[in-house]
Amino acid sequence: MKGLILSGGKGTRLRPITYTSAKQLVPVANKPVLFRVIEEICNAGIDDIGIIVGGDTAPEIQAMVGDGSRWGVKITFIHQAQPLGLAHAVKTAQGFLGEERFVMFLGDNVIQGGIHELVRQFADSAWNAQIVLKEVENPQSFGVAELSDGRIVRLVEKPREPKSNLALVGIYMFDANIFEAVDHIAPSWRGELEITDAIQYLVEKNYKVYPYVHKGWWIDTGKMEDMLAANSLVLDELAPRVEGYVDRDSQLSGKVIIEPGAEIINSVIRGPAIIGEHCRIVNSYVGPFTSIYHHTVVDSSEIEHSIVLENCRIVAIPDRIEDSLIGRSVEITRSPIKPKAYKLVLGDHSKVGIL
Ligand code: DAU
Repeated sequence: MKGLILSGGKGTRLRPITYTSAKQLVPVANKPVLFRVIEEICNAGIDDIGIIVGGDTAPEIQAMVGDGSRWGVKITFIHQAQPLGLAHAVKTAQGFLGEERFVMFLGDNVIQGGIHELVRQFADSAWNAQIVLKEVENPQSFGVAELSDGRIVRLVEKPREPKSNLALVGIYMFDANIFEAVDHIAPSWRGELEITDAIQYLVEKNYKVYPYVHKGWWIDTGKMEDMLAANSLVLDELAPRVEGYVDRDSQLSGKVIIEPGAEIINSVIRGPAIIGEHCRIVNSYVGPFTSIYHHTVVDSSEIEHSIVLENCRIVAIPDRIEDSLIGRSVEITRSPIKPKAYKLVLGDHSKVGIL
């Protein structure tokens, strides 16, 4: 089997982070979501992976991922000229996929438990497609499946009035019949060729489409709250380890990871939390469900339930920072110069909550 990861698209719901970077490269527990997806596919025994890239983010994704040798797999980048939908992406990858069965994984999805078992079942089966479903509270935000006696009756993309609470998880398995399906669907109301409609075509033509209901957690990291939720869930599953320096005046409690080259000075780190390589945490508190990526300084400040990217400086902030996603090379400091005022340099679509 081959693997196909979709990492094009625009990421508008994660602005302003996605003005300068791909949403699939935002780290969850200090590892980009896209790397997690690649690892899930490798762990399922697949070593030939295509990644759909498009628009401004393609060069950055290619540079970060490389040729796959770091994971011992072959990676082929496939350019999608415009983000015209998930089914359009599949069609774009037809040359790479050929006649092989494949697993398609959306590059912004994080799932508990891996896909090894699912891939194994599908590889040896006579099914034409396998979809993964998950019970959710807000089905109208996803593709939704209606089942009867365990078989798929109907699939609808983001229905206003969902007929069930079973969302389509961004993991699909197909054989080459999916290309026939893609050729027979029309763009949806949002102007995209929907993979949901292509699978509905397979169902209508009596192809064998098998639904699997996933029991563990699953997060589509499209929005900031989802990113923080995925971060919390992944952090909670990691094994603690201390590879950096922790001085005698500091205190670590719960599941804490201190990566090599990090320094914790006179600070409290309450897990689950991860402090990345070459960070300096000085006279500070880092609370549960926080990930701090590499080369960031937190000095005389408190932060909890947040993701901070690399090369940031958070210094002498009087109140605790919470529920935040802080981009690269961001500075949050006190301004000593009069007049006493907030001095902000914020990109479009930034959000600041002032006390
Ligand atoms: O996450 C699960 C949901 O993913 C499913 O429940 C929906 O049925 C499915 O349509 C999809 O919905 P989203 O609206 O969340 O898809 P999004 O536009 O966020 O794209 C998902 C990934 O695919 C993302 O990494 C970007 C990439 N993509 C997207 C489009 C539209 C491409 O590579 N090319 C594209 O043309």
